[in-house]
Amino acid sequence: MINGNYVAIHKPVLVKEIIEYLAIKPGAKIIDATINGGGHTSALLQKYPDIKILGIEWDPKIFEEAVKKLKSLKVEDRVILVNDSYVNLKNIVEKHDFHPDGILFDLGLSAWHYEKSGRGFSFKRNEILDMRFNPSTHSTKPQGGELVESTSSGQVPAAEIVNTYNREDLEAIFKEYGEEQFYSRIADAIIRARKLKPIIKTWELVKVIGEAVPEWYKHKKIHFATKTFQALRIAVNHELENVEKGMREAIEVLGPGGRLVVISFQGLEDKIVKNMFREKVKEDKVKFVVKGTIRPSWEETKTNVRARSAKMKVVEKV
Ligand SMILES: C[S@@+](CC[C@H](N)C(=O)[O-])C[C@H]1O[C@@H](n2cnc3c(N)ncnc32)[C@H](O)[C@@H]1O
Repeated sequence: MINGNYVAIHKPVLVKEIIEYLAIKPGAKIIDATINGGGHTSALLQKYPDIKILGIEWDPKIFEEAVKKLKSLKVEDRVILVNDSYVNLKNIVEKHDFHPDGILFDLGLSAWHYEKSGRGFSFKRNEILDMRFNPSTHSTKPQGGELVESTSSGQVPAAEIVNTYNREDLEAIFKEYGEEQFYSRIADAIIRARKLKPIIKTWELVKVIGEAVPEWYKHKKIHFATKTFQALRIAVNHELENVEKGMREAIEVLGPGGRLVVISFQGLEDKIVKNMFREKVKEDKVKFVVKGTIRPSWEETKTNVRARSAKMKVVEKV
């Protein structure tokens, strides 16, 4: 638990499977590329008392909490935390002279983003349409010393996309990143609505989407705004490009025999991981540890809703 449930509302998935498939050797150096509240990192530190972990987190708010948590666990000498995007993995490895024997990616966002961030990730809360993982535009250092470092980001908030992008770009975002069948109607409705008044808050956007889609679409199990919100979040954070670049750099920096374990929650990301692994197997850079996908046990899906869509893939550096 971090500071009264601040970030720790996020329950780590596939912990047993990660431990099994990372196949960590004594004294290993591991990178947790998406540390969040440190759920997986804490489990690994506890299981292997002689390993070191370099943890990366892009979101500065979550990063601050991860720093506090790991300090409270008194593991500073075994952990380096970096407030950056994993797209810069190669630079981070070189800068810290931390050459990994294993790398873990647990992609996407955390429950905290939806429930507590106040940044408009969820259509269930009426908040400003921001959706940036890293809203800071200049460097900040939440803590001093070796343990932490911070960088800036150049992301555009969701409200800016909604209010300034042209029809074709909006359509492409909703179609490609949201796989939203009513992409054209939604883009149209946004353009009409924003001529009258800028769309600034989540519920304003939900209203516009609701007016654009057919009535039957509003009675489906999945909320009619889900795909548009997902698409905007992916566009704001360049999530698909990040996954592709992150995987490429991870394979490059991993030591021989080192394992790369990736968990994705969404089809588009999973496809990028699958294709990248196939490409790198063909190039003899990595080999499959398991050919297909590892899914959570039935028991885990009963106790952790988020685990239901988790897909894990593993390769080993040749
Ligand atoms: C699913 S959570 C990870 C949960 C973590 N494994 C745990 O057990 O607590 C994903 C995290 O990755 C972070 N993230 C997203 N994109 C990132 C990026 N490009 N670089 C680094 N961190 C990123 C998110 O802010 C979020 O905290």
